[in-house]
Amino acid sequence: MLITQDQGFHHPYPSEITPPQVYAQRRSLLVHLGAAGLLASGAGAWAQSAAVPRPGKLAPLDAKVSALAGAQAKDNITTYKSASTYNNFYEFGTDKADPAENAHTLKTRPWTVEIEGLVKKPGSLSLEELLKLSAMEERIYRLRCVEGWSMVIPWVGFSLSELIKKVEPLGSAKFVEFITLADPKTMPYVGSRVLSWPYTEGLRMDEAMHPLTLLTFGMYGEVLPNQNGAPVRITVPWKYGFKSGKSIVKIRFTEKQPLTAWNKAAANEYGFYSNVNPAVDHPRWSQATERRIGEGGLFAKKIKTQMFNGYEAQVGQLYAGMDLAKNF
Ligand code: MTE
Repeated sequence: MLITQDQGFHHPYPSEITPPQVYAQRRSLLVHLGAAGLLASGAGAWAQSAAVPRPGKLAPLDAKVSALAGAQAKDNITTYKSASTYNNFYEFGTDKADPAENAHTLKTRPWTVEIEGLVKKPGSLSLEELLKLSAMEERIYRLRCVEGWSMVIPWVGFSLSELIKKVEPLGSAKFVEFITLADPKTMPYVGSRVLSWPYTEGLRMDEAMHPLTLLTFGMYGEVLPNQNGAPVRITVPWKYGFKSGKSIVKIRFTEKQPLTAWNKAAANEYGFYSNVNPAVDHPRWSQATERRIGEGGLFAKKIKTQMFNGYEAQVGQLYAGMDLAKNF
């Protein structure tokens, strides 16, 4: 995403190249689940399977398998190693390996999220209070980065709408802004001129209320590692990855469309909507195809990017009648 230098190809880590037999095993597990009609109701068995073990490094975060998003039979789940070592989290550096190396300084307890703006119940919620708001679900989502790579990650959390309903937005609230932590003491790149800090993002109210928008506390059956946005982030699976703000400290309800960190940095490259759309290219990158991290490395066959990242049936109607080339 860096706009200050040319975007080169990122050489994959050896760990991203999963041995073919592991894929064969994983695939047969998925096909088996699909054949048993279990995929739509969830594919939680992956966590117990020999092919994709729980990483077992962080505290477990138990969740029921979501009825909303199980794996598609054709998707292999990205390895935990890839998902936790190939990251964008510019507060900790701009190389993909930087967040995993540097984010150990992030202090995730105590943690509070302020709710402010156009709501009946503003205030501050501790992480513990947030965790208790609703039952945890495991959702397997594709994450498509605007840079042309993607992953398939089993996230743990609950729909952001559960929180929004509890704080009772006013009728005048049309947008939700996410403000993330910007602590120069623990985040070495805050203060650098890469972006204007804090990293902020936003959604239209109906997007924020959509059941697929996940307030995320964990992945692979465990709490989030710091580099993936601990202790709480959002995940919006039909939008480019940069909409999914990490380490959120404030959620603000507004009447006006909020500015976002990337929009401020380069308005011609990053619009507010940022829906995955293979027909609308980024000025510097085609969005027609993508490379799955961990699948074949340098020699990976590019796969076709799907409209709304494959979630068109669920979210397409949110944008009915909109010109998506203009509202990119
Ligand atoms: N959130 C913050 N606070 N800072 C960031 O730099 N990068 C975004 C998004 N959220 C970013 C962020 C981008 S560009 C992507 S692609 C995703 O996080 C990556 O999430 P992942 O590392 O969990 O795959």
